Amino acid sequence: MNPFISIDWSAAWREAFLAHAPENATSEYWDKRAELFQNQARFDEYTRLILRRLRVGGGQSVLDVGCGVGNLTLPLAQRARTVTALDVSEPMLAYLRKNAAEAGLKNIEIKQLDWLEAGIGSDVPVHDIVVCSCAVVTPEAQSMLVKLNEAAGRIVYLSWEIAHPFHAAVYRALGRPYRSYPNYIYLYNLLYQLGIAAEVSVVKSRRQIQFESPQAALAHWRARLRNLSPQEEKNLLEFFQKELKQTAGVWIPRRPYPSSWALMSWRK
Ligand SMILES: C[S@@+](CC[C@H](N)C(=O)[O-])C[C@H]1O[C@@H](n2cnc3c(N)ncnc32)[C@H](O)[C@@H]1O
Repeated sequence: MNPFISIDWSAAWREAFLAHAPENATSEYWDKRAELFQNQARFDEYTRLILRRLRVGGGQSVLDVGCGVGNLTLPLAQRARTVTALDVSEPMLAYLRKNAAEAGLKNIEIKQLDWLEAGIGSDVPVHDIVVCSCAVVTPEAQSMLVKLNEAAGRIVYLSWEIAHPFHAAVYRALGRPYRSYPNYIYLYNLLYQLGIAAEVSVVKSRRQIQFESPQAALAHWRARLRNLSPQEEKNLLEFFQKELKQTAGVWIPRRPYPSSWALMSWRK
């Protein structure tokens, strides 16, 4: 038996996604997180490392699927001819509009759409380059990937998480089982089953996590988890007070918790 072929990776992803993060597949979930995304520096180093690896040139059109508040959209708009920024969440796009206006960027077209429902060639034309950064937040990963492929004229860039040890440590401190998305290997194998052999570049960040204070770290996780008991709040604050140290005006982990992502890409 060849497990890479006999496992149904689409079904395996769906099962793992629904077991760990079913609420993340709703637009309401992302609407509520827009402010958090706008205010946090969480993606700063990730964005910088990913941008270095994206080959995007002046004459090209880019489609950024699940663009959020525009962490990648804005720098890509400085390099590309045009960027279409697509997201299901209007509050995310409202921040993106504000960020683009502040940056004086005029080559961004914004579309509020659910990617799973967007018509390729009707709602969204084929673009030279399709980027999808940490946005396969659906049980229906296969449909999402097939459409990313259809929408690209030249290259698709798809990033997804490999591991977040700091998140795992937070769950340990809470005494809760670790809940995370199914990781990139599902998506890589799913692509393989679709006949796509993607290149993979591993992106690692040591400085990914930073907070204004241990209390701000607690507020961040309170917003992420939404149902912390008073005892869990106490345990978590103690954890942040012990694990974070102050340096150059911010609080970062005392020891490295390297987060990693896979940037998968394929040419058409
Ligand atoms: C983790 S954020 C990533 C944002 C951005 N790509 C980045 O790397 O900073 C995931 C984004 O995907 C969007 N999203 C989730 N499901 C979507 C769907 N079905 N169609 C379009 N956007 C979706 C969310 O609203 C959110 O903005």
